[in-house]
Amino acid sequence: MRKGRLGLGHRAAHLGAALWFCISGLAFAQSVPERFKAVCQSCHGEGGVSHTELTPSLAGQPSFYAVTQIFLFREGRRSNPLMTAIAKGMSDSDLRGFSDYIGKLPPPPATSMEGLSAQRMSRGALLAQEHRCASCHGADFSGSKQVARLANQREDYLLQTLKGFQSGDRLGYTTAMNETLVGISAEGLQDIAYYLAHAPRAKP
Ligand code: HEC
Ligand code: HEC
Repeated sequence: MRKGRLGLGHRAAHLGAALWFCISGLAFAQSVPERFKAVCQSCHGEGGVSHTELTPSLAGQPSFYAVTQIFLFREGRRSNPLMTAIAKGMSDSDLRGFSDYIGKLPPPPATSMEGLSAQRMSRGALLAQEHRCASCHGADFSGSKQVARLANQREDYLLQTLKGFQSGDRLGYTTAMNETLVGISAEGLQDIAYYLAHAPRAKP
């Protein structure tokens, strides 16, 4: 954990100049789509499909989930130095505008199933079933309302965020996620992240 935090601080320092550019971009660019392209895409990827380490894809996240998360960053209740700085530059109407836009972006494409470990996929699927992840996140893990979309999210981000919920470093809007991961081993979290990152479908 400690190592992770230091790593992020280091990364944040390097991104200082880029961040200033981003925040000024927020103020000067025009429509939401233009501002998304000018500011958000540099980290979250074209069309909100991320190719950046530890940075989530935003495409297809339910708009209510997105608005809640940006709000939590802005209020300092979800901590990430990059996103907090960006969220602080946003008005309430920015929050709504970006979130509506995110909700309408086509979700990340399914990854190739070639070369996947069937063993890890089935271990991940079993854990997801045992812990009833689909009961809130949907049978196809596409999320809804305040519940996040998980299907085809980046594996490294999923793993980091699951560890964060489990350790209490990340607090959600409610404690649902902190409670649901109690007792899952470190290896179990890895298998769940692997499974979710590769377009899972819950068993009926
Ligand atoms: C400098 C890089 C950077 C920029 C620019 C950036 N973000 Fe982020 N964003 C991140 C990172 C990293 C995270 C994940 C933080 C964490 O792990 O808690 C994140 C998380 C988010 C989340 C939460 C997603 C989730 O799945 O929980 C939303 C929503 C979001 N960003 C929206 C935006 C919007 C809208 C913009 C443009 C106005 C933007 N971001 C610009 C780096 C960035
Ligand atoms: C009782 C409902 C519920 C259950 C069960 C549940 N979740 Fe969640 N999950 C949520 C909510 C609500 C959020 C949004 C958290 C917040 O308020 O910030 C969330 C967020 C997440 C996120 C963060 C996504 C992102 O983009 O940052 C991940 C990852 C996640 N859940 C995985 C899981 C997994 C894996 C399971 C099963 C082991 C699970 N969830 C079970 C309700 C639930």
